[in-house]
Amino acid sequence: MGRYTSLVLHVFSGTGNSLRVAGWLSELCDRSKTQVVRIGKTGTPKPVPTPETITGFVFPTHGFTAPWVVLRHGLRLPRVKGGAAFVIATRAGSWPGFLLPGLSGSAVFTVALILLCKGYRIKGLRGLDMPSNWMSLHWGISRKYADKIIERGKHNIERLAQKIFSGGRHLFSFNNALELALGIALVPISAGYLLVGRFALAKLFYANWKCNSCGQCACDCPVGAIIMKGRNVKKPYWTFACESCMHCMGYCPEKAVEASHPLAVILYFISTFSLAGVIGKWLISVNPGAVILGSIVSNRLIQLMLNYAYILISLFLVYILFYYLMRIRMVNRIFTYLTLTHYYRRYHEPGISRKDYTNKDLFSEKDRTSSR
Ligand SMILES: Cc1cc2nc3c(=O)[nH]c(=O)nc-3n(C[C@H](O)[C@H](O)[C@H](O)COP(=O)(O)O)c2cc1C
Repeated sequence: MGRYTSLVLHVFSGTGNSLRVAGWLSELCDRSKTQVVRIGKTGTPKPVPTPETITGFVFPTHGFTAPWVVLRHGLRLPRVKGGAAFVIATRAGSWPGFLLPGLSGSAVFTVALILLCKGYRIKGLRGLDMPSNWMSLHWGISRKYADKIIERGKHNIERLAQKIFSGGRHLFSFNNALELALGIALVPISAGYLLVGRFALAKLFYANWKCNSCGQCACDCPVGAIIMKGRNVKKPYWTFACESCMHCMGYCPEKAVEASHPLAVILYFISTFSLAGVIGKWLISVNPGAVILGSIVSNRLIQLMLNYAYILISLFLVYILFYYLMRIRMVNRIFTYLTLTHYYRRYHEPGISRKDYTNKDLFSEKDRTSSR
């Protein structure tokens, strides 16, 4: 494989796009020289690279940055002395008659910065368009258009791999400059996503009445965030560890996993209520002696912390109530008919099956064509 003797790929993937990209890279390098580290599953060994190894991070963009599970994985890597690395964030491409690119924002730069601090030398950065998988927001992309986007993605990866694996760099490009500028501008949104958004999105998932309690979603969840709850009839329950990666929704054989839009509206109103402000005013009004306490609560930082705790606790409590209400068939049907995902087409990368998530090696291009 040119300049390097082995490739270590750290991969996280919800609906298979990033897994597909990792598969291409492993084909282009040499499958026998590729080692795969699955991000998200605890206990995966983290190989220490030699100067002849090149390490790659491949993952989806979430909220214009890298998913928390990927950042955490990077932060936990051991320090190395000068191993080469590259970072690829797949992003939401769509096809309204032409390739409309997604925006990976700060995703590759944040992970690259972590790797730099760990002692890696960065050789390549790229936001790569693959079919958008955000099915809580929009219907899944059709097979015809997904194939067009995937084909372009493959072409771009071939060019990138050729350059990097032969010892070159891919750092300065118009695409990277634009992503960096927009990524910096969008930092407040990305921070909001990591601190609050991902928790709120996790709590929108539920199983509709078609769920037959098979437990596949819990068993396959890439981050182990779903538990089967219930004494007699068990139903999936999404914990705060959920990354909203859409694996459960994309692969459920019954199309039973939904993201509730009515609940999103309810959660929005509940979580935007400023609890800290109300407590501060109430303390001062009921007891003038509590002015000091009231002014402490009015402190901006304390207000932020109180409101943050309030948002997380209210998400947790409302979701528990929602979860038990969804066990009542009639209520489940009403919420499901009001939920857009019920009408949406599901998406997962066409050639990636459930078993590809647990394969020791990545699939080959041969496997992909035979699975079509
Ligand atoms: C919760 C969530 C947030 C997303 N945020 C973005 C985003 O900010 N920008 C973007 O271009 N794509 C975004 N996407 C789309 C995915 O990054 C993209 O479809 C990716 O290829 C999915 O890869 P995977 O199948 O390996 O998970 C988002 C998807 C999800 C589910």
